[in-house]
Amino acid sequence: MQGRNIRKDARRNRRAALRKELLLSREMIGARVRELAGEISEDYRGKEPLLVSVLKGSVFFFADLVREITLPSKIDFVRAASYGKEMNSCGSVRLTKDLELPVEGKSILLVEDIVDTGLTLSYITGLLADRGAESIKICALVDKLERRERHVPIDYCGFKVEEGFLVGYGLDFDEKYRSLPEIFILKE
Ligand code: IMP
Repeated sequence: MQGRNIRKDARRNRRAALRKELLLSREMIGARVRELAGEISEDYRGKEPLLVSVLKGSVFFFADLVREITLPSKIDFVRAASYGKEMNSCGSVRLTKDLELPVEGKSILLVEDIVDTGLTLSYITGLLADRGAESIKICALVDKLERRERHVPIDYCGFKVEEGFLVGYGLDFDEKYRSLPEIFILKE
């Protein structure tokens, strides 16, 4: 446990010394969000999907996306915490906030900020499948490829990045930077 905290602190200190470089402007994000919403509205035509935000990072993306989707839909929220990533173990995930609406027989669209190892979404999709969801699709603003451990099919992807730590537009470093309207990459 102690070893894990020391590693986490060291990583936090390294990131705290980094500068941020603009990666995605408001305009780029806004244009891509509208495109994604258009695709989603088309693909789910005639259906009433349950749109689920994976907290907290997706909150601004979710709010912007949902308001561009031209379908009758319901919204809900879920939050997961993961353990073990600092130790480079396989990591395990648990829910810290469950959905409130029923899932059985529903077409679910999970909306995530960034997919990194894939552990979080792999856990949540497994859980919703066990609860009898009719279909589960994933919409992620950023697909970060470098550290993927679990294959998660991303049906709607905003942007792909190879590596790096991103902040802004909901993405945080130690709970900072979430409220920035653009997305930055932390650089040495
Ligand atoms: P995964 O289970 O490794 O895919 O974890 C995904 C979660 O890790 C995201 O929802 C974020 O909360 C966090 N995360 C991963 N990469 C970044 C990043 O570059 N910036 C901020 N948060 C990140």
